[in-house]
Amino acid sequence: MILLLAGTTEARKMGWLLADYGIAAVATLAGETKVPADLGIAVETGGFGGEDGFRAFLAQRGITGVIDATHPFAVRITERTYRICTELGLPYMQLMRPHWEPEPDDTWFMVDDMAQVADFVPQGARVLVAAGRKAAEDLSLPGREVFVRVIDPQPEKDGVTWIVGRPPFSLAEEVDLLRRHRIDWIIAKNAGGAADGKLLAARQLHLPVVMVNRPPAPVTPCRERVQDVLDWVMDL
Ligand SMILES: NC(=O)c1ccc[n+]([C@@H]2O[C@H](COP(=O)([O-])OP(=O)(O)OC[C@H]3O[C@@H](n4cnc5c(N)ncnc54)[C@H](OP(=O)(O)O)[C@@H]3O)[C@@H](O)[C@H]2O)c1
Repeated sequence: MILLLAGTTEARKMGWLLADYGIAAVATLAGETKVPADLGIAVETGGFGGEDGFRAFLAQRGITGVIDATHPFAVRITERTYRICTELGLPYMQLMRPHWEPEPDDTWFMVDDMAQVADFVPQGARVLVAAGRKAAEDLSLPGREVFVRVIDPQPEKDGVTWIVGRPPFSLAEEVDLLRRHRIDWIIAKNAGGAADGKLLAARQLHLPVVMVNRPPAPVTPCRERVQDVLDWVMDL
C-alpha cells in the first residue's frame, strides 16, 4: 500500500495516475481545504496527529512506500516523513517541481519571506496575493488595495478582498482576473512546476511580481515529474 502525501495539484495528478494503474494507495491531506478535490484514490483528511500518529499509520496500513507530493513550502511534513522513512527503511520519494525562473521580460523581486514583501510594493498599489491564505496572514500592506486568492470562501476581513478559486488557473483566466480588478502587483511563492497562469499573465501585462523564495528544506530523493514518480512506484 502506497501512501501519497497530498495537498498540491501535482498530488492530485499523482493520485489519478495511481488509480489508473490500479496501484493500491491511500492519500492524506492536512485538512486545509474544506472540500478537497477528487484524487481518484481514498483520501484521509486532518493530519496524522503528530509523529507518533504517523508512525502508527504506517504500521497499521502496511505502508510499503511513501510519495511526498506536498508543497515545497510545507517543509515540516517533508522533514518528518523523510526522517522516519529513512529510519524505518521505508522507500520514500518526493515529487518536487523545479523552481520557476524569471525570463528576460519579467520583473521579479525575490524575497525570502512575506515580511520583506512590503519593502517592494508601493503605496496605492492594487495587489493580488496568490501565495495562500496563511501566507497572507503574515503580510501587512497598509496603504495598498489587497486581493487575496483563496480556495474556500472566507469571513469578511477589513482591507482584504477575497478571490475564491481552485488552482490551476489558465493564462486567459488570470489575464481576465488581473484586468477586472486592475491589479498592478502580484505576490507569489516559488512553488515551481509547469508554466503558471498568473506568471504568464504578469509577463503578458508587464506586471511586477514579488516572488517569495522557497524555505530551506531537507535534501531528499526526488523526481520532478509525476510520470517519473510513477515509474519509481512500479519498480518497488
Ligand atoms: N505551505 C504552503 O505554502 C502550502 C501551499 C499549498 C498547499 N499546501 C499544503 O497544505 C498542507 C499544509 O501545509 P503546511 O505548510 O501547514 O505543512 P507543514 O507545516 O509541513 O505540516 C504541518 C502539519 O500538517 C499535517 N500535514 C501536512 N501535510 C499533510 C498531508 N499531506 N497529509 C497529512 N497530514 C499533513 C501534519 O500534521 P500532523 O502532525 O498532525 O500529522 C503536519 O505536521 C500540506 O499538505 C501542503 O502540501 C501548503
